[in-house]
Amino acid sequence: MAVVKADAYGHGAVKCAAALSPLVDAFAVAITEEAVALRGAGIDLPILVLQGPHSLEDAKIMSSAALWPAISTEHQIDWLEQTGAQFEQVWLKCDTGMHRLGFIPDEITSARSRLTALSLSDIVMMSHFADAEAPDSALTERQLLRWGQVIDAAPAGSFSNSAATTGQIATTESWVRLGYSMYGGSLVALPGGYSLKPVMQFESRIASVRWIDVGESVGYGGRWVARRRSRIATIPAGYGDGYPRAARDGTPIGTEKGTVLLAGKVSMDMITADITDLPALDVGSPVTLWGDSPYIDEVAGYCDTIGYELCTRITQRTPRLFHRLTGERD
Ligand SMILES: Cc1ncc(COP(=O)(O)O)c(C=O)c1O
Repeated sequence: MAVVKADAYGHGAVKCAAALSPLVDAFAVAITEEAVALRGAGIDLPILVLQGPHSLEDAKIMSSAALWPAISTEHQIDWLEQTGAQFEQVWLKCDTGMHRLGFIPDEITSARSRLTALSLSDIVMMSHFADAEAPDSALTERQLLRWGQVIDAAPAGSFSNSAATTGQIATTESWVRLGYSMYGGSLVALPGGYSLKPVMQFESRIASVRWIDVGESVGYGGRWVARRRSRIATIPAGYGDGYPRAARDGTPIGTEKGTVLLAGKVSMDMITADITDLPALDVGSPVTLWGDSPYIDEVAGYCDTIGYELCTRITQRTPRLFHRLTGERD
């Protein structure tokens, strides 16, 4: 199951879903509106709505768009009852320790009976890891223990995400739900020394170059101060495009000649980099803000966030160019 919520983590949900349709069995999104947009774009594989309906109206829309609701409250079951609609498949969310959504294990039997009483018989049990990056943590162990208690009585289940899958703790009852790693991101090292290829290359070109003297500063607030005579490149991508304002001086930026470092605060429309050591760089030189190098999770480390947030926050202003990779698969 390919998770394409939040515009496919900023990659473009419709394009990604169209490209993934021959490769996956179903999609997952967070909310009904996202699923309806995919249906409107001609995506006809099953779509799971991870938050389930938010209202009776929402439940009706889900039924008419042939969506799969993930159910995690009694209210949602009430709405399903009131619509009287049938759903090909319903997911039942168990709160094993994330404490965000879902029925606690003791409530699962009664929630399940309410669903079966509505003739909803194809029920997939699901849960979500709170700390999948730490497979040995007490929290993960607690969650797996509770999952073991509820899944015994269920024929189908899904307790998985990227870190759980690459870390090999995802349970394999029936569905594997993959988001971030499908886009080539990884919060954990992969087994066997494998790495994932990032789907997103966030690119720009140097727009302006200048020399500044020792002691001169660059950008708002004069945060970065030249310790040597320095050659500064200005790149037309800022937080208005999705480059995080939190990026610290020293955040790596890729170029064809090597890595250069962010110098100065990120503006709305521009960033600045110290290119003194790479004299071949000039106006027009391409730069990679994240992609193959630097890797998005590396950049995220300089911004006190995770790569998930960086790719998801690429703004509308940034043009998205889509390439179909040719390779063994084609
Ligand atoms: C319920 C649920 N399942 C699966 C995923 C996919 O997670 P990941 O992107 O880490 O693979 C998410 C993402 O937040 C989620 O909320």
